[in-house]
Amino acid sequence: MKFFLDTANIDEIREANATGLLDGVTTNPSLIKKAGRDFFEVIAEIANEVDGPVSAETVSHDHETMLKEGFKCAEIADNIAVKVPLTLNGLKTCKALRAEGIMVNVTLCFSANQALLAAKAGASFISPFVGRHDDVGFDGMELISDIRTIYDNYDFGTEILVASVRHPTHVLDSALIGADVATFPWDVMKKLFNHPLTTNGLAGFDKDWAATGFSIL
Ligand code: E4P
Repeated sequence: MKFFLDTANIDEIREANATGLLDGVTTNPSLIKKAGRDFFEVIAEIANEVDGPVSAETVSHDHETMLKEGFKCAEIADNIAVKVPLTLNGLKTCKALRAEGIMVNVTLCFSANQALLAAKAGASFISPFVGRHDDVGFDGMELISDIRTIYDNYDFGTEILVASVRHPTHVLDSALIGADVATFPWDVMKKLFNHPLTTNGLAGFDKDWAATGFSIL
């Protein structure tokens, strides 16, 4: 499963990228606001930092303007995935951008039927939001499982990009279901490395090693 970082914070992206485990980045208008930097400047910097896809989101709702925005975003770098909302106009835009060979991430997906539409529109990525789904009393992971089944039934090439990931269990469940990508904040990624038994085990080994008086180097 690929790991994307869900942020527009370049310092976090650099830290995560230094692990060698980062496959891409997703941003959205709220994350751009949080970063407090010029949209084009920050997206270009991220795209230069990371080899994999970097999602840059369109903000208009009508097809014509969204398409123009999509082309403009795609011009920033070769690894830009234009993010469009899962609306009728968003999917029209997806189809048109894909026809030009531009990567497209269809976002704000909350149903398996929406994911089916996105795959038919040729989306490179579909972003179902599991955390926001959980927030309103639905099981976000059930949605991922349904989309996996549908995409496998028809051999769709659209990658399932699990979004709105809030904790390590979302990552684990995504991997068990066979999602292609999970995107999460740096705080969630850091948690994946930790286990109390690893910490305790290391402390025990440190103590015993110190008592031997040996040195490896
Ligand atoms: C994904 O591409 C979205 O940017 C993101 O995962 C939304 O997460 P949130 O629900 O925590 O805002």
